[in-house]
Amino acid sequence: KAEPPPRIMISGAPASGKGTQCQLITQKYNLVHIAAGDLLRAEVAAGSENGRRAREYMEKGQLVPDEIVVTMVKERLLQPDSQEQGWLLDGYPRSSSQALALKEFGIEPDLFVLLEVPEEILVERVVGRRLDPVTGKIYHLKYFPPENDEITSRLTQRFDDTEEKVKLRLRTHNQNVEAVLSLYKDITIKIDGQVSKEDVFAQIDAALENLLQQRKETSRSL
Ligand code: AP5
Repeated sequence: KAEPPPRIMISGAPASGKGTQCQLITQKYNLVHIAAGDLLRAEVAAGSENGRRAREYMEKGQLVPDEIVVTMVKERLLQPDSQEQGWLLDGYPRSSSQALALKEFGIEPDLFVLLEVPEEILVERVVGRRLDPVTGKIYHLKYFPPENDEITSRLTQRFDDTEEKVKLRLRTHNQNVEAVLSLYKDITIKIDGQVSKEDVFAQIDAALENLLQQRKETSRSL
């Protein structure tokens, strides 16, 4: 019998490298990347009522209320591609109520990846971050500069990527992280996120290979 596709959550402080690692993970594992922050920014860009409300919280580095975030993420997780290919959920849950809301719908991960990065390097990562609106690729002016001038000229910056705002986001993160971690501690894998992005990926890759291998063995022995 075919095993169900993998379901992975990835968590970490603002600018710890979640989005960067998700791009590398989906390239190899073909999981559906669902980023709560990206879903919210799409609402903001669309100018919807939810988007307008969400922006007020995002500007302050606070959590957007559950009534907006929970349905948005749940609906994306239940779409056929996520169900068939498996998913990689980035930046959700950020509170125990968000975790419990998924549990109630029978949605649970196989693995919880936690990126650990010291606070003092997060600000530098945020202020140097740039995005390519054409490819969606994440760059950093110092660590991952764009490949050519054409890309450089079209790069954009997120509205919450200032030193002041990342400090607010970090405060929110620190207030909520323990409650979320305690719910997933049995399936958590801690990753050193301070090394190069390739070395961070190597650690995550090993954990995913291990998970897939274990699942193969379990299904064979059934
Ligand atoms: P969200 O968009 O999720 O932002 P965040 O958690 O602050 O995380 P970031 O996207 O800033 O960083 P990242 O970890 O993806 O890092 P990246 O790979 O880009 O959320 C934004 C807001 O939306 C929240 O504040 C909240 O208001 C709201 N929200 C989101 N989810 C919510 C939820 N569940 N409930 C309620 N509200 C919610 O990397 C950062 C930079 O570092 C890049 O420039 C990159 O190139 C560089 N970099 C990456 N890896 C390395 C490395 N190994 N070495 C050197 N540089 C690196």
